[in-house]
Amino acid sequence: MKQFISVKDVQDMNALVAKALSYKKSPFSDKKLGADKRIGLLFLNPSLRTRLSTQVAAQNLGMEPIVFNVDKEGWALEFAEGAIMNGTTVEHIKDAAPILGNYFDILCVRTFPGLEDKQADYSEKIIKQFIKYAGIPVVSLESATLHPLQSLTDIITIQESIASNANFKNKKPKVVLTWAPHIKPIPQCVANSFSEWVGAWGEADFVITHPEGYALSTEFTKGATIEHNQEQALKDADFVYVKNWSSYEQYGKVLSKDASWMMTNKKLALTNNAKVMHCLPVRRNVELSDEILDGPNSLVTQEASNRVWAAQAVLAEILKAINI
Ligand code: CP
Repeated sequence: MKQFISVKDVQDMNALVAKALSYKKSPFSDKKLGADKRIGLLFLNPSLRTRLSTQVAAQNLGMEPIVFNVDKEGWALEFAEGAIMNGTTVEHIKDAAPILGNYFDILCVRTFPGLEDKQADYSEKIIKQFIKYAGIPVVSLESATLHPLQSLTDIITIQESIASNANFKNKKPKVVLTWAPHIKPIPQCVANSFSEWVGAWGEADFVITHPEGYALSTEFTKGATIEHNQEQALKDADFVYVKNWSSYEQYGKVLSKDASWMMTNKKLALTNNAKVMHCLPVRRNVELSDEILDGPNSLVTQEASNRVWAAQAVLAEILKAINI
């Protein structure tokens, strides 16, 4: 693996999941793989899970991680080609990225969308410029449109849950991605990415439910059934993935804060005793009720814990490619 930006960078998803689960059993089995290798983690936006799980994963592989909060501690970066830099930006990505490429062996970048210019966000211009100018493998820690480490974790968590339940021996799980309310505009990244990974996995009956006006880009939702009636969508679900996203059609807009879309135990009763997932951080009692998050059906802690093994499996693949 030369980079990890989307599911397209993965040759064999099931093998990657198996590798992650083997690291869960034996975290230090490849402790020498990353010896004398340094990994840079650049944050243009906040993080808890991604930042810490990727550091732990890198250390499990013997690498030295260095975290840099560009948003708080770095120079303001310019990404526009031909920019006359007489404004607020101080350093061009063309100048900064090659230096990072010399300091590190792998570069990880978190960069959220602006949610104002759909074309700019969906062209992934920021992470693509890190790839272009750094000259070393780049791993997405969430970009403008996708969150692949989260989605790999989600597939791992679903597979883990299926493996421990004999009912799935002769049946595909029904996986439902449901929109939930939120107080502010949230990127489409997690929902896009989850849809793309579940589609590529191909082992689930996949339904997406959201109010009118919240359709995701069809680039990511191939093979999914779209159902605007949430209760209908939740019927017999085995896994319910709860997530807010802002409108893709009316780009970045909050079109609804309808509280009736919040996931509750009453709605859980419509499902096949579904396990409930969320990438976190979650707005309690806005997106998801306390009763679900604190109840037996919630997978959120297991899911967030699995972030380490997902990151470790990806970094190991990249280290193997570097070491060849
Ligand atoms: N799920 C996730 O990416 O969490 P953080 O934003 O805390 O990294």
